[in-house]
Amino acid sequence: MRIRPVATVVAGALLGLSALVPSASAAQTSTDKHRTVTVAHRGASAYAPENTLASIDAADRLGFRWVENDVQRTKDGELVILHDNTLARTTDVEQVFPDRSPWKVADFTLNEIEKLDAGSWFSPEFKGERVPTLEAYMDEVEKNSQKLLMELKSPELYPGIELQTLAELYDAGWLDKSHVKRRLVIQSFNADTIKNVHRLHKDVRTGFLGNPSVADLPKYAEYCDQINPHHRAVTADYIAAVHGLRGPHRRPMELHTWTIDDGPTAVKVAEMGVDGIITNKPDVVRDALENSGR
Ligand code: G3P
Ligand code: CA
Repeated sequence: MRIRPVATVVAGALLGLSALVPSASAAQTSTDKHRTVTVAHRGASAYAPENTLASIDAADRLGFRWVENDVQRTKDGELVILHDNTLARTTDVEQVFPDRSPWKVADFTLNEIEKLDAGSWFSPEFKGERVPTLEAYMDEVEKNSQKLLMELKSPELYPGIELQTLAELYDAGWLDKSHVKRRLVIQSFNADTIKNVHRLHKDVRTGFLGNPSVADLPKYAEYCDQINPHHRAVTADYIAAVHGLRGPHRRPMELHTWTIDDGPTAVKVAEMGVDGIITNKPDVVRDALENSGR
């Protein structure tokens, strides 16, 4: 395990990350532009424990290129992939560290988290699966030739996580032209975090998780390429309002919606015009879209 060098982060802060990498063209392209993209939420998380390497391998085996994850930070400053702010639901932390309630991610070192089983809660078949570091996760996404919709989860708990994440992505080779144009979007429920990501690295595509009012959308278009609402907030008019604006990379803004695990709802939002569907059951969504001719 390689400890993340603080120097890398500091160097990024001093130099400015945009200066560390070749500048990508302002124009963004997407090979998925004219069809509804299916994104495997926390990996193919209906079939393997969420946010583990097994979950993105499951998505890969099913043929899915886009995966979604959640990034948080340990007590000793390491970035790991986990959805909840605590380790209780998706690991055996309560057995391994019974006196450490409420088992917050931020209260455990990476060394401690690496002792945890992040698979058995889901199924005995996945016993021994670990909470991945961001570094290991990026290696696996790269190995699988996948694309990543990365969520910075609860960034208000982790000051500076935007810069640290970008520094790790840089180290992993994910801020070069081809990755930022085709294979990476960083999203968050926290608008300030997305603003920070955009300020730190103008070429990286970004998404805001939520459904701002139509009147507010132009403000978001200054730094967001995507507006990604819960599916119950999606209407055809709202999608049209999003599509009617150009994001920071001068392309029409996109809308990816979550979390849809049934075919009829997937077809309904696809017919409304969403650009992407984020789902725990990507095969179910794909089959429904294909059967509906989309
Ligand atoms: O990518 C959208 C979705 O992940 C947002 O909700 O709670 O699953 O992180 P959540
Ligand atoms: Ca998420």
